Amino acid sequence: MRLLPVGSRALAPALTLVLSFASALALAAAPPPQAKDCVACHDQVDLEAFRPRAHGGLACVQCHTAITELPHPEKLPPVKCARCHAHEAKDYANSVHGLARMKGKDHAATCASCHGKAHEIVTKSDPASKVARKNMDATCGKCHDGAFLDKLNTRLPHRASRMDLKKMPGK
Ligand code: HEC
Ligand code: HEC
Ligand code: HEC
Ligand code: HEC
Ligand code: HEC
Repeated sequence: MRLLPVGSRALAPALTLVLSFASALALAAAPPPQAKDCVACHDQVDLEAFRPRAHGGLACVQCHTAITELPHPEKLPPVKCARCHAHEAKDYANSVHGLARMKGKDHAATCASCHGKAHEIVTKSDPASKVARKNMDATCGKCHDGAFLDKLNTRLPHRASRMDLKKMPGK
C-alpha cells in the first residue's frame, strides 16, 4: 500500500471532522488545570523531582479529582488510593492492619505508613523505596520492635507478601 502524504485530499474530510469535534469539546469544557498552574501557588511541589517517580506520569488532577477549576476550595477531600489500586486496597482491607483500622485502632498501618507520601513513592524495585527489602525493617520498625520483626522474618516464606499479612505466621 502507498502511504498517503500528510495533508492529502483523501485524509482531509476525516481530519476536519476530528478537528471540529475537538473544538466543540473545547468550547463545552475548559481544559483541566495543569501542573504548571498548580506550582505557581504550590512551589513546595518540585516537578523535576516528582516526574521520574512512580506517580510522576499522572496529571495532578487525576488524584486531586475535586479540583476542576481554579481557584479551588481550601479544603479538599483526601485522595482515594483505591480508585487506581483496587487490588492492593482489597488485600489491605483483609489484612491484619486493615481490619484493625476498621475496628477503630488508629495506630494500625495505613497505605502511607508503609509507602510514605504519595508524591515521594518510587517503584518497589528502586532501592529508595520504603518497601525495598533492605528498608523493610525500618518501615515496619516504626511500630514493631526488632524481636517481633526477627521472628516474622524467619517465619515468612521467601515470596510472601507483607501487605496482606493476616497474623504472625505460625502463631
Ligand atoms: C498519586 C496521586 C497524586 C498525584 C498524581 C498528585 N498528588 Fe498531590 N497529594 C496526594 C496525596 C495523597 C496527598 C496528601 C499527603 C501525602 O500523601 O503526601 C497530596 C498532597 C498534596 C498537596 C498538599 C501539601 C503537600 O505538599 O503535602 C499539594 C499542594 C499537592 N498534593 C499538589 C499536587 C500537585 C501540584 C500535583 C501534580 C504535580 C500532585 N499533587 C499530584 C496525591 C497525589
Ligand atoms: C491561586 C493559588 C492556587 C493554585 C493555582 C492552586 N492552589 Fe492548591 N491551595 C491553594 C491554597 C491557598 C490552599 C490552602 C492552604 C494550603 O494548604 O496551602 C491550597 C491547598 C491545596 C491542597 C491541600 C488541601 C487540603 O484540604 O489541605 C491541595 C492538595 C492542593 N491545594 C492541590 C492543588 C492542585 C493539584 C492544584 C492544580 C490543579 C492547585 N492546588 C492549584 C492555592 C492554590
Ligand atoms: C489516578 C490513579 C492513582 C491513584 C489515585 C494512586 N495511584 Fe499509585 N500508582 C498509579 C500508577 C499509574 C502507578 C505506576 C504504575 C504502577 O506501578 O502501577 C502507581 C504506582 C504506585 C506504587 C508503586 C508500585 C510499584 O511499582 O512498586 C505505589 C506503592 C502506589 N502507587 C501507592 C499509592 C498510594 C498509597 C496511593 C494513595 C495515596 C496511590 N498510589 C494513588 C496510579 C495511582
Ligand atoms: C503493612 C505495610 C503496607 C501497607 C499498610 C500497605 N502496603 Fe502496599 N506494599 C507493601 C509491601 C511490603 C509491598 C511490596 C510487595 C508485597 O510484599 O506485597 C507493597 C506493594 C504495593 C504496591 C505494588 C504492587 C506490585 O505488585 O507492584 C502497590 C500499588 C501498593 N502496595 C499500594 C498500596 C495501597 C494503595 C495501600 C493502602 C490501601 C497499601 N499499599 C498498604 C506494604 C504495605
Ligand atoms: C503505623 C504502625 C504500623 C506499621 C508501620 C506496621 N504495623 Fe504491623 N501492626 C500494627 C498494629 C497496631 C498491629 C496490631 C493490630 C491489632 O491490634 O489487631 C499490627 C499487627 C501486625 C501483625 C500481626 C501481629 C500478630 O500478633 O499476629 C503483623 C504480622 C504485622 N503487623 C506486620 C507488619 C509488617 C511486616 C509491617 C511492615 C511491612 C508492619 N506490620 C508495619 C501497626 C503497624
